[in-house]
Amino acid sequence: MSEGQVDHDFEDLLGYLKRNRGFDFTGYKRSSLMRRVSQRLRMVGVAGFAQYRDYLEAHPEEFARLFNTVLINVTAFLRDREAWDYLSTAILPRILAAKGANEPVRVWSAGTASGEEAYTLAMLLAERLGREGFAARARIFATDVDGEALAHARHATYSQSAVEGVPPSLRARYFTRANTSFVFDPEVRRGVIFGRHDLVQDAPIAHLDLLVCRNTLMYFNIETQNHILSRFHFALNEGGYLFLGKAEMPLTRASLFTPVSVKERVFRRAPRAAPPAPPGP
Ligand SMILES: C[S@@+](CC[C@H](N)C(=O)[O-])C[C@H]1O[C@@H](n2cnc3c(N)ncnc32)[C@H](O)[C@@H]1O
Repeated sequence: MSEGQVDHDFEDLLGYLKRNRGFDFTGYKRSSLMRRVSQRLRMVGVAGFAQYRDYLEAHPEEFARLFNTVLINVTAFLRDREAWDYLSTAILPRILAAKGANEPVRVWSAGTASGEEAYTLAMLLAERLGREGFAARARIFATDVDGEALAHARHATYSQSAVEGVPPSLRARYFTRANTSFVFDPEVRRGVIFGRHDLVQDAPIAHLDLLVCRNTLMYFNIETQNHILSRFHFALNEGGYLFLGKAEMPLTRASLFTPVSVKERVFRRAPRAAPPAPPGP
């Protein structure tokens, strides 16, 4: 089914999820959303979306499985290493240079999944500010709509394979080994504040110097992306930076963000358009 066609049973199912679980999937790209929900239909052995809705009513434990299938939590430390190197060497120094020595630095990792992105930011900022400076000045807000992913993030404990992408020098400074797992430094972890936040429905976190939203916008249709990008514009300080994923561009909201590096998907909040000049005499 193409983006434009409407499947009424599917729309009913989305309405049911919104009314019963407060989760609004209507702004997600239809084709990939349908594909993912259909995987669940096959798993539980029902033939159509209407029957699946009945199945959900009778089996409330299925909601969690459905959300896990739809909300793709794939992530990694320093995911797309080159882009993070650029952020670390070209953008973080600019953000810090524009601040007074004791001024807070506010960052939001939106759609943070299981925390790897937020802890990547924490390590890169702590490297620049020093541990004391980081503790005194850095606030990293890390949010996701997925409660299970956030629970994992708060736990700050990762497998050997998850930390493989972290350069050995950073791994040695910010992780402690506990049996087969790696635990993120509890002192630095205190600068990361996790919370549940729905990009579609909740008011944004404000007064930000840097907003990192990677590999999340791409799940939404253009209209919803526009709505989220307008909120991001509001959330950022004048001249604040927006860091998107490799496959994402704020194209339809180009007037709100000026490219800093299109290759690395870093943009800067453009000033608000000046109000129209008053009519002349
Ligand atoms: C592919 S992961 C991206 C993780 C990380 N930002 C990265 O780039 O590695 C997408 C995340 O977006 C989250 N997400 C999906 N819909 C959301 C919404 N409406 N509000 C907030 N987060 C959402 C999912 O739960 C998932 O954790």
